[in-house]
Amino acid sequence: MSYQTFDAEKIDHRQAYRLCVGSIVPRPIAWVSSIDANGIANLAPFSFFTLVNHYPPMVSISVGMREGQAKDTAANIEATKGYVIHTVVDGWEEPMNISSAALPAEEDEFVAAGLETVPSDVVDAPRIKDAPIAMECTYERTLNFGDAWTTQLVIGRVLRWHVRDDLLVDGKYIDAYKLAPVGRLGGPRYCRTHDIFEMMQPYNEGKAGTADGDPMPDIGKAEAP
Ligand SMILES: Cc1cc2nc3c(=O)[nH]c(=O)nc-3n(C[C@H](O)[C@H](O)[C@H](O)COP(=O)(O)O)c2cc1C
Repeated sequence: MSYQTFDAEKIDHRQAYRLCVGSIVPRPIAWVSSIDANGIANLAPFSFFTLVNHYPPMVSISVGMREGQAKDTAANIEATKGYVIHTVVDGWEEPMNISSAALPAEEDEFVAAGLETVPSDVVDAPRIKDAPIAMECTYERTLNFGDAWTTQLVIGRVLRWHVRDDLLVDGKYIDAYKLAPVGRLGGPRYCRTHDIFEMMQPYNEGKAGTADGDPMPDIGKAEAP
């Protein structure tokens, strides 16, 4: 088999980006609602998004700086602390994509994307009405990485979840079949979650339940949309 080897120190930022977004796949998309000090709400998607810890629940997004300036999302979260992350699922791709446009800070991305909002419970940023999952978060800290291309790793803690009733099994587990999350691949490519399979971790083999040994009821593929 032949391979090409890329030395991270010898490639330019474009090639590094191509390799990053092509090999770290699929990425979940954090659809982030934030609010500035004047109360203007903002919405944007971020696929450099991951779980940091589960208890307390903590999440991170990496927000690239634009011409040396923080993007509105990172600036708002630092300024007003509270924000909301929504999980992007089937049917919500278009408004998610529209909300990625770099609108001036005073222009409302919710309106541009044709979305309604509802107030959050414990943070000032609104949440998207009817979004299947919304996580109200509070800012913890920012770590800056890079030099010519600086990214702000924004870490927050989830304070409250809003999960649509029908997505819950036994009121506890989120049904991945019904949720149908959308992932980001390289460039303009995305993927859907329509081919789910199950596999027990070796140390849980023989035990009923989910991969981590938590006894989730068998929901079966019949529940898939
Ligand atoms: C699916 C998707 C994923 C994105 N992921 C990121 C990301 O991880 N980091 C980032 O800085 N920008 C990302 N962007 C671009 C931002 O959404 C875009 O720069 C947006 O205008 C930022 O909005 P803001 O200035 O209101 O914060 C992504 C765009 C799309 C469509």
